[in-house]
Amino acid sequence: MQNIFEPQRFGDLVFASADTKSVLNDIRTGALPFPSGKHGIILYGSFGTGKTASAPIICDMIEQANSGSALAIEPYVIDCEGSERIDQILNTAEDRRQILSANLSNLHYFIFDEVDSLTDPAQRKLRMFMQRTHVVTVMTTNYIDKLDGGLKDRCYQLEINPLTNAQMRQSVLQRVKDNNLTPPTEEQLEQLIASSNGSWRQVMPKLRKFYGV
Ligand SMILES: Nc1ncnc2c1ncn2[C@@H]1O[C@H](COP(=O)(O)OP(=O)(O)OP(=O)(O)O)[C@@H](O)[C@H]1O
Ligand SMILES: [Mg+2]
Repeated sequence: MQNIFEPQRFGDLVFASADTKSVLNDIRTGALPFPSGKHGIILYGSFGTGKTASAPIICDMIEQANSGSALAIEPYVIDCEGSERIDQILNTAEDRRQILSANLSNLHYFIFDEVDSLTDPAQRKLRMFMQRTHVVTVMTTNYIDKLDGGLKDRCYQLEINPLTNAQMRQSVLQRVKDNNLTPPTEEQLEQLIASSNGSWRQVMPKLRKFYGV
């Protein structure tokens, strides 16, 4: 069943870190041209804060900033914990890059999820690939320290922190409103976000159960 509470648009994302918010907003408004000097974004931080869910939405935001239109084709998502070998993955990625992008910007979007799972040599190969023209790479990781220094240097490193209770409350209420659902009472809202520590992964099942969706 489709999850109606999943974030859909950039406006649905709430960032606890002021730095992260400001870099992404600057990219969105065009104040920070991207891709330009840097072609990659690393979303890093603790578990369940929405890095994987945000990655395609951020790609769409980048496309809109560059072309004024939504993504015409979904980003190519690579789960780095998967068993495929990096050479094969990068060959496929390169094949895609060489064909004309369906996106109006001519950009090709690649998401490398859990990128710290790549070995050091694999990260160096990724580092080479991500610098090619028309390539935008968004990576996620819980372990930024495990990433190659050169790879990090070529990217905006954006920390995705757990939301504060106040931010989580507000986001939950907004998501409920967006779906035209009856808002929870104060007490119910407290319970929905209790002991979540700002992790959407903790809140989401409770929210879905509460509304039976
Ligand atoms: N902004 C958001 N609004 C509502 N739900 C969200 C939001 N961000 C994430 N979620 C939901 O929370 C759950 C966890 O999100 P996600 O998998 O993106 O976290 P993550 O940071 O990638 O976690 P991990 O560090 O374990 O990989 C998912 O069900 C996702 O749909
Ligand atoms: Mg993830």
